[in-house]
Amino acid sequence: MPGALTQPQTKLSLHPAPRPACETALELANVSKTYGSGAGAVHALRGVDLHIGTGSLSLIAGPSGSGKSTLLSVLGCLMQPSAGSVRVFGEALEKRSESHRSSVRRVNFGFVFQGIHLLPALTGLENVLLAGEIKGLSASEEQARSLMARVGVAELHDRLPKDMSGGQRQRVAIARALFGKPRILLADEPTAALDRRNAAATLELLRELSRSLDVAVIVVSHDRSLFHYADRLLELEDGRLKE
Ligand SMILES: Nc1ncnc2c1ncn2[C@@H]1O[C@H](COP(=O)(O)OP(=O)(O)OP(=O)(O)O)[C@@H](O)[C@H]1O
Ligand SMILES: [Mg+2]
Repeated sequence: MPGALTQPQTKLSLHPAPRPACETALELANVSKTYGSGAGAVHALRGVDLHIGTGSLSLIAGPSGSGKSTLLSVLGCLMQPSAGSVRVFGEALEKRSESHRSSVRRVNFGFVFQGIHLLPALTGLENVLLAGEIKGLSASEEQARSLMARVGVAELHDRLPKDMSGGQRQRVAIARALFGKPRILLADEPTAALDRRNAAATLELLRELSRSLDVAVIVVSHDRSLFHYADRLLELEDGRLKE
C-alpha cells in the first residue's frame, strides 16, 4: 500500500471535529474515596453520582476539605476511586490498565491546576507547546499561536511568565490545557490567585470556550458566588454532592 509506511501528518486544527451537542463526557456512579484505613480513615467522597455533558461549564463548589480536589482527580482519571465506577465517553475505566487509563487521559483531558504552574524559564508560546510534547503530539506552533489568540494573549508569545499579570498567566495556562483539542477541561481553583475582575473574566472565557469548542468544562472552587458564570452548580459537603 503506497504511503502506508510514511509518518501520519498530525495537522491539528483548533476546532474539534463536529460531534453531537451535549454528549455525556463523564459519568460517576456511587463513587467513594477513602484515604487511609481504620480509625484514621478519611472519607473524602461518599456515594457520588454525576453526569457531565460537553458544551457547558459546571461549577463544583464546597468548603476547604469537602473533597473538591479529590473529586477532580477521580474525574480526571488521575486517581482510582475506592468504590463505584467512572465512565469517560461511556467507557468504564476501573478494570483497565494504568497505561490505558493514561492514554484516555492524554487524549480526552486538559488540566488547569491550582497555582497555574507555568514554567518560569519558558516563554508563553513555549509553555503552550510543552503541553503538546507531554501529550506526545508533534509541536504545532500554529496551533499554539492560535490558542493564545483565542484566549486573548496573542501578544505574549515571547514573554516570560514573570513579566505577565496573574490573569494573563492564567490565560496562557488555559491555552496550554486546550492544546491537542481535549474534550474535557478540568480546572482546580483557577481563579484563586486572581482579583474579582480577572476571576470573572476567566470564568467567562471558560464558559465561552466550553460552548464554542464543545468541551465539558468542570471548575472546582470554594467560591460559590462564581456560579453566576456557570451553566450548572454542584455543591460538595463532607464528600457528598448535591445539585
Ligand atoms: N493523600 C491524602 N491522604 C489523606 N487524606 C487526604 C489526602 N488528600 C486529601 N485528604 C483529605 O481528604 C479530604 C478532602 O480533601 P480535598 O483535598 O479533596 O479537599 P478540597 O475540597 O479540595 O479542599 P481545599 O479547598 O482546601 O483544596 C480532606 O479531609 C483532606 O485532608
Ligand atoms: Mg483542593
